[in-house]
Amino acid sequence: MTLQPTPADRFTFGLWTVGWTGNDPFGTPTRQALNPVEAVNRLSELGAYGITFHDNDLIPFDATAAERESILKDFRGALETTGLKVPMVTTNLFSHPVFKDGGFTSNDRSIRRYALRKVLENIDLAAEMGAETFVMWGGREGSEYDGSKDLASSLDRMKEGVDTVAAYIKEKNYGLRLALEPKPNEPRGDIFLPTVGHALAFIAELEHGDIVGVNPETGHEQMAGLNFTHGIAQALWAEKLFHIDLNGQRGIKYDQDLVFGHGDLTSAFFTVDLLENGFPNGGPTYNGPRHFDYKPSRTDGYDGVWDSAKANMSMYLLLKERATAFRANPEVREALKTAGVFELGESTLAAGETTADLLADTSAFEGFDADAAAERSFGFIRLNQLALEHLMGARQA
Ligand code: GCO
Ligand code: MN
Ligand code: MN
Repeated sequence: MTLQPTPADRFTFGLWTVGWTGNDPFGTPTRQALNPVEAVNRLSELGAYGITFHDNDLIPFDATAAERESILKDFRGALETTGLKVPMVTTNLFSHPVFKDGGFTSNDRSIRRYALRKVLENIDLAAEMGAETFVMWGGREGSEYDGSKDLASSLDRMKEGVDTVAAYIKEKNYGLRLALEPKPNEPRGDIFLPTVGHALAFIAELEHGDIVGVNPETGHEQMAGLNFTHGIAQALWAEKLFHIDLNGQRGIKYDQDLVFGHGDLTSAFFTVDLLENGFPNGGPTYNGPRHFDYKPSRTDGYDGVWDSAKANMSMYLLLKERATAFRANPEVREALKTAGVFELGESTLAAGETTADLLADTSAFEGFDADAAAERSFGFIRLNQLALEHLMGARQA
């Protein structure tokens, strides 16, 4: 297996990632602004498949129509020259002060109408760019004070916004799908739809939920103390994993947006195992872009920026190589069998067995020896040691 990324690996990067100039709440930028054309050229040289962007990463908020056209012309030219794709587009409803109380759920109705228009304009651009997915990260949709929001009205307005955008996509026959990106907090004290679970429950209430899924981000679930692989597994199981933001996070703290694998490496191993090898007993698979949404540390210059882009893809390919060897190892398959991982794939009721049949089966209850069954050792520790030895390169097969 080569560790040289190619477009076939479908690695994509947000323009706002390699383009992040290092500004944070406590410091000014440490790097010069990056020209989007330069970003396209460099990412293509590194073997990426695509680039994604917020409207205002590419087109300044106050750009004139002529400036917008000129920027898009240059950007499209670079895409044509390199063959880089734009699989996803998203909207910035969080930087300009107008969105300080959100976009879709701002308490100010005129701002909600403005935000909706800004998204609809951007949907047209996404379709023009050939994007498949439109991400909605509601970074400012939330509150610092419980009394500042009617929470039912907030969800009504979020539903109204998402359904309106989805209806527009259908009306224009764009074929785009929407992917909601959960995050528990930051920049708002509490963000609405904070985790994959909340987002999936919300989607179930939508009128046009058929074209709405989720875009889980590694660090966002981990900021909530949750298991990212479990989150994407449930999204995949519900056939709602429409996109994914990969990065690294070291524990429950501010959103670190580290390089993928530079946070919880064991979790990253099993994330790649799921994305590349699927569920052990089969089921839905994820065939979308492997998208990195991270921030190159402000401590580094542009050498570090391009090192970080390479690092994301190297980490993914190294983990893919080791997770695939793990799954192919006969000793591992034996350990999985002992652990009952394949047995879990068997339905608890036999095909056609009714509740009455179960109630009549005395071996399942009246004659069941719970103490004897409790003696079973599942061997999870040995199985995990095998996984970690593969992760560490201590085992090839
Ligand atoms: C963050 C978010 C954003 C979103 C982006 C759309 O924590 O800043 O992850 O980067 O992902 O707005 O994907
Ligand atoms: Mn993030
Ligand atoms: Mn993200």
